[in-house]
Amino acid sequence: MEEGISMSTIDFTGRVAIVTGAGAGLGRCHALGLAKRGAKVVVNDLGGTRDGTGSDDSAANKVVEEIKAAGGEAVPNYDNVATVAGGENIVKTAIDTYGKVDILVNNAGILRDKSFVKMDEESWDGVMAVHLKGAYCVTRPAFISMRENGYGRIVMTTSGAGLFGNFGQTNYSAAKMGLVGLTNVLKLEGAKYNIKTNVIVPVAASRLTEDVFPPELFEKMKPDFITPAVLCMCAEECEDSGMFINAALGYYSRSAIVTGPGAILSDGKKVPTPEEVMENWGKITSIENPQYFDQLPEMFGVLGPLLQ
Ligand code: NAI
Repeated sequence: MEEGISMSTIDFTGRVAIVTGAGAGLGRCHALGLAKRGAKVVVNDLGGTRDGTGSDDSAANKVVEEIKAAGGEAVPNYDNVATVAGGENIVKTAIDTYGKVDILVNNAGILRDKSFVKMDEESWDGVMAVHLKGAYCVTRPAFISMRENGYGRIVMTTSGAGLFGNFGQTNYSAAKMGLVGLTNVLKLEGAKYNIKTNVIVPVAASRLTEDVFPPELFEKMKPDFITPAVLCMCAEECEDSGMFINAALGYYSRSAIVTGPGAILSDGKKVPTPEEVMENWGKITSIENPQYFDQLPEMFGVLGPLLQ
């Protein structure tokens, strides 16, 4: 068991949660899961198509109805996460309706896949806007409010396409890795205020993956398998921050950016030649016995002898 997670029942009674893109797929599942365990939920969804065009209020409305039918509390919001005004209004909806925001799950997403050569500006900008700018637009007002309250749990949704690479998804992968950088810094800036930011790396059946998985796999890869990991990271009991958690079917694991031992090719005064770098390429690129740096200044530690 991860240090910092207790065995007590995870209960969100009294907590207010925002889930973006909660009108379908993973977001719907997270919203239902949070509400089932007592959270009051803002169900945000623009209700557009898979590539981000159009809008339809019924996506958010349906999930709110589902939550209410199951005895939970929820309010719809139809704003576009990709605008500052939209992000502010999503957070305002939580504060006006329920008085605060404790939990934010940044989940809204679209796809505009193309090989890099065909990647036009519109496809690049549209995907960046929803995934990366969208996380900025919603998280900033939420973070400001959480900081005032001295409490917050934020979950970003990245993708294995970004962490590991996936053909035809340069825009999406770049945006998703932007969320990893954003998390690395929010982890530090939120620490003092008990705001924890973690990342889910899901693989699940949804309209985004319906043409990716073979039908028999699509049938099995229920979004329900992702929600427990998200709920765990939304819990007060989760004291970790900056974790990237892969989830698919019943599999959960951590990915991390780690650094190999490297090679010291200088006394800190003489600049090595490119040939010396080339000769030591094997050592430089080895990730045997890797180290994890919690923040940039820790990396300077390895330079110790060279700084004399
Ligand atoms: P989905 O298409 O079922 O759900 C995404 C929801 O976001 C939709 O309901 C859509 O209307 C909403 N949305 C899109 N743009 C929006 C905007 N600008 N403002 C507000 N809402 C907006 O897809 P899925 O798979 O549930 O995706 C959820 C998240 O998980 C996305 O961020 C996606 O990139 C990510 N993800 C999904 C994976 C999977 O295997 N399904 C794999 C890796 C990441």
